[in-house]
Amino acid sequence: MEFKIDTFEQYQSIYQYSVAQPEQFWAQIANEFLWKKKWDKVLDWNFQEPTIKWFDGAQLNITENCLDRHLATKANQPAIIWEPNNPAEQHRTLTYQELYEQVCRFSHVLQRNGVKKGDRVCIYLPMVPELAIAVLACARIGAIHSVVFGGFSAQSIADRIIDAACAFVITADGGYRGNKEIPLKSVIDDALMQCKTVQKVIVLNRSNTPVSMIKGRDVWWEEEIKMVEDLKLKDFPAVTMEAEDELFILYTSGSTGKPKGVVHTCAGYMVYTGYTFATVFQYQPKEVFFCTADIGWITGHSYIVYGPLSQGATSVVFEGIPTYPDAGRFWDVVAKHHVNILYTAPTAIRSLMQFGDEFIDGKDLSSLRVLGSVGEPINEEAWHWYHQKIGKSNCPIVDTWWQTETGGMLISPIAGVTPLKPAHATFPLPGVQPILVDENGAEIFGNNVSGNLCIKFPWPGMLRTTYGDHERCRQNYFSTYPNLYFTGDGCLRDESGNYRITGRVDDVMNVSGHRIGTAEVENAINAHTGVIESAVVGYPHDIKGQGIYAYVICEHDFINDELMRKDISQTVARIIGAIAKPDKIQFVKGLPKTRSGKIMRRILRKIAEGELSNLGDTSTLLDPDVVASIADARIN
Ligand code: PRX
Repeated sequence: MEFKIDTFEQYQSIYQYSVAQPEQFWAQIANEFLWKKKWDKVLDWNFQEPTIKWFDGAQLNITENCLDRHLATKANQPAIIWEPNNPAEQHRTLTYQELYEQVCRFSHVLQRNGVKKGDRVCIYLPMVPELAIAVLACARIGAIHSVVFGGFSAQSIADRIIDAACAFVITADGGYRGNKEIPLKSVIDDALMQCKTVQKVIVLNRSNTPVSMIKGRDVWWEEEIKMVEDLKLKDFPAVTMEAEDELFILYTSGSTGKPKGVVHTCAGYMVYTGYTFATVFQYQPKEVFFCTADIGWITGHSYIVYGPLSQGATSVVFEGIPTYPDAGRFWDVVAKHHVNILYTAPTAIRSLMQFGDEFIDGKDLSSLRVLGSVGEPINEEAWHWYHQKIGKSNCPIVDTWWQTETGGMLISPIAGVTPLKPAHATFPLPGVQPILVDENGAEIFGNNVSGNLCIKFPWPGMLRTTYGDHERCRQNYFSTYPNLYFTGDGCLRDESGNYRITGRVDDVMNVSGHRIGTAEVENAINAHTGVIESAVVGYPHDIKGQGIYAYVICEHDFINDELMRKDISQTVARIIGAIAKPDKIQFVKGLPKTRSGKIMRRILRKIAEGELSNLGDTSTLLDPDVVASIADARIN
């Protein structure tokens, strides 16, 4: 990769260059990718509308970068190593040649089923190689994929399918997670009752779960592949994409009740994920890279599929969970596949810490060279445990800060290069220009300061719009502070200029590394019969980072509090998914509101955190007494 960084001094000088000459910098990086036609202009932007165009005029297909270009030298190198949920099941390895062939075959399947460039395809699959194959085949044919995490409910899927007007769905009969079997097709069937746009559903057989296949709509993945093979259809020429053609939509939570479809486009996303993958992890040829995220989240899109594959890396796809069959599973996977780089989330680290050393002892972790963390702030205790017990004090930890909207990592140490500071994401990557601002949008200069984190210059991986609603994109990210991208995160900058992200400053929670909007959970709770109103806040949780605390007003007294709590949780699971179930539900008679009817979340947050002595000024409340009664009955 151009601008290889081996020392911190090199980082500093390349960083200076990338800020002084961003277009030249990114053009040099982009030159290392495969283009059908090079760009006319590197960058065209304004943050008011916003309009962001990278590499305009260029033509490419991201899958030629992830597959075709490696065939000359890496055809027999593993592209994907798949580790199943059940360790007794055989793992699978797909070389670059095999992955290329399978992606081409499935591209034929998509085409024969009517999928065309620009169509939206919803993918709801477990963590099997076919998920990566489906994603890449969509990209090859120019269809826009919208992957929905396997933990979301039928209602959430329906909302996403309707928002993007998807005509196609790719799913499986079922999937495995730990000792649970998830009936994916049946969830899709429920979702599709509301989705009139869907013409075809392609169903992979993963679990032999009985499913109802609807005539004319549902087809089996395996049968379709067989037909393509019988017809001797092999190579599938990658469709030519313009630089700013949409590559995918990924829904994420914001402060309103409705998730937004974050849109990423072909060229910038490709360059950004490839560059950051190679740089941050300092990936070396033949190394095995294991990102434990699900492909249903941005981390999996960028650092299981596109980033590693564009760099010709070997990427592990793990179907299971960290605690199945026991809390040593990650370490077994590391030892079995000689993993060199492990990229996981603080919530997983904290949960495994609890089980003690017996699940690590005797496991061969000597292949590890770099450790990574993503998704939420990592506390110092977890950082040190990860560093000592897993990295044996020999592996740098890259604490990578980024978001669904940023496409790739923005602030992060570079492995082996950046001096580490536990719990700090340290410095911006080349090309990234963070600033801190106060409430009024004035820039906070100097060090030893804190403020709201914004980015003042575009980078190739940034979102371009929110699907079907550009105004929403403008309002959400570009209107709080003029001419800046607002991240929604609070941040400290220490005496040496290291950045430390402290968490969201908006109404978004981060539960086990999953982003969930308080308004989404409130809407779901309010859908339960008998609930009049609710208010939801996040509170510190030892394992999950944040837990969900719900204050709920019900219509009348009910006999059994516990049953009502379970009913409400069930309602949330049905509407959003089990990941959004409240950890605590407190029944209240009223909520603290201002005279204009606005809920004072600050007070509810303090109560949930147990900071009862410091509830702040309550004199402006409509009914100040309500605070004392809520605080008295707080759930510990
Ligand atoms: O609050 C930040 C937190 O996760 C949010 C983004 O969530 P999502 O879009 O789901 O993407 C997660 C994976 C990139 C951010 O606004 N976050 C992410 N990484 C870190 C982090 N907080 C602190 N430190 C991090 N390394």
